[in-house]
Amino acid sequence: MYRTHNCGALRMEHVGQEVTLSGWVQTVRDKGFMMWIDLRDRYGVTQLLFNEEVSSKELLEAARSVGREFVIKITGKVIERSSKNDKIPTGNIEIEVSQFEILNASQTPPFTIEDESDGGDDLRMKYRYLDIRRNPVKEKLMFRSKLALETRKHLIGTDFVEIETPFLIKSTPEGARDFVVPSRMNPGQFYALPQSPQTFKQILMVGGMDKYFQIVKCFRDEDLRADRQPEFTQIDCEMAFVTQEDILNTFEGLTKHLFKTMLDMDMEDFPRMDYDEAMSRYGSDKPDIRFGMEFVELTEEAKGKGFPVFDDAEMVVGICAPGQASEYSNKDIKKLTEWMQRPQIGVKGMINVKYNADGTIKSSVDKFYDEAQLKTWLAKFDAKPGDMLLILCGETDKTRKQLNELRLEMGNRMGLRDNSVFKPLWVVDFPLLEWDEDSNRFHAMHHPFTSPKKADVERMLNGDHETMKALRADAYDLVINGVEIGGGSIRIHDRALQEKNFKLLGFTDEEAEDQFGFLMGAFEYGAPPHGGIAFGFDRLCSVMNGTHSIRDFIAFPKNNQGRDVMIDAPSKIHDEQYDELYLKSTAAEKVVE
Ligand code: AMO
Repeated sequence: MYRTHNCGALRMEHVGQEVTLSGWVQTVRDKGFMMWIDLRDRYGVTQLLFNEEVSSKELLEAARSVGREFVIKITGKVIERSSKNDKIPTGNIEIEVSQFEILNASQTPPFTIEDESDGGDDLRMKYRYLDIRRNPVKEKLMFRSKLALETRKHLIGTDFVEIETPFLIKSTPEGARDFVVPSRMNPGQFYALPQSPQTFKQILMVGGMDKYFQIVKCFRDEDLRADRQPEFTQIDCEMAFVTQEDILNTFEGLTKHLFKTMLDMDMEDFPRMDYDEAMSRYGSDKPDIRFGMEFVELTEEAKGKGFPVFDDAEMVVGICAPGQASEYSNKDIKKLTEWMQRPQIGVKGMINVKYNADGTIKSSVDKFYDEAQLKTWLAKFDAKPGDMLLILCGETDKTRKQLNELRLEMGNRMGLRDNSVFKPLWVVDFPLLEWDEDSNRFHAMHHPFTSPKKADVERMLNGDHETMKALRADAYDLVINGVEIGGGSIRIHDRALQEKNFKLLGFTDEEAEDQFGFLMGAFEYGAPPHGGIAFGFDRLCSVMNGTHSIRDFIAFPKNNQGRDVMIDAPSKIHDEQYDELYLKSTAAEKVVE
């Protein structure tokens, strides 16, 4: 037998009992005639005492040969500790060891297995098995497991059915590139890994499974960031005979349940904001509403006063940073402006107006605007003495995006983005289509299966090009603390409307039939009205834990180059594999050379 208890289980009530424990050596403290080992497993740490009197000299010598991360098994008596440690649950007891066995030796680990490790990201990922022994990583994986369980309990408890959909499919255009898999049995043909189970869940609705969900892996070959992995997990859902209202209520209910069971937090009803309003108030379709500093437009007030930069701009817009006038010297403002001028944001310049605590006003455009004019600006921002305005100008969409970055940065600097506060928001009424100047065509704002609002169907079927830009969709995102947690829509369930949408998106009839004939065919056999949503499961884990990075909530994540550095993937394949998959072989390349 390896263990009677785990390393987190023993308390004062066990004193006097003989127990057997197995685990990893966390630390060794050697006092010559006595020695202590902290023994660790998933459940906690228990102190072991090796004492010359109780344990034999030989046993003490044997124990002396262990190092950090050795796997050992011991048997001994639970005793009360003379000096107690109230920081750990087992801190009142220790085990007086009478039998000891090394189960496996360990090399010295390349980084410390402590809560605060000295290992860099790549090292931790290469030795992920050691990293997972650390409390913060272990706890995140356990959180994830419980969150999945609570999700299943809630959805199954409300009549949802979990159904698996295939991983080897045909490409679904969700906006990213597909990962493809060659088919040996179908020479020259490829499967795609699903970017999401979108079309399958819609087919399940046609199949009558009116409440579907799946906690499912999705694959997208896109540029990676802290909150993006090439393979990630969704809580993917679809319902039939529902309106947008039903979906929002159902998944607000799920979110509230998860916050209650996981964090013991009661959430108030989620506010809703339409897309246009989110863009004009925050310059983002995923606003962080934990703090204010909303946009105020000054276009009318600022233009036509002889300041050429504003006069030439489509929009003048700014934020008011409360209490910051005295915090920012000219040098600090220069630094902030340079930060905004980095290519990632790319402003040309930034205007500031300081409303000093003594009531005086100082701006970087004093030459063009007198005090009375600046006062009208301050009034529009509802600024108080001590506040500072930061103003940008330019083309509307671009300027809003830039000001969004500035707002978030100021929020960070001013400590307004408190990670223990959760502010959910439904963003609704997204545009159906987005015009792309570069490719000179429409893109689906959500995906090609999204339905226009009922009131817009007629205009979509018969309207002109300009009309299409104004179409609104029954599409919605759930945003928490400025992170897009989930997105979904009511779907088209009518063949003619789906055909029209594909046409608008630049598909020929043949392309639409070739790629999505199966779906449009299904629509001809009694497709019910339906809609759904998918939550980013990794993102939900990270936001609930107050972090932005999803990596530690994934047991074996990829790095920013999309590599798994532990197994060293992706990797080359053998020449024979190229051949049997009918791919150009390296042998063939050599011949060409
Ligand atoms: P969407 O593309 O908005 O919708 O994805 C849903 C949610 O999945 C998460 N997500 C990601 N998480 C980590 N890494 C990624 N690379 C990544 N990409 C997306 C986000 C996002 O909100 N089929 C539709 C859903 C529907 O219409 O029902 C879909 O996939 O949190």
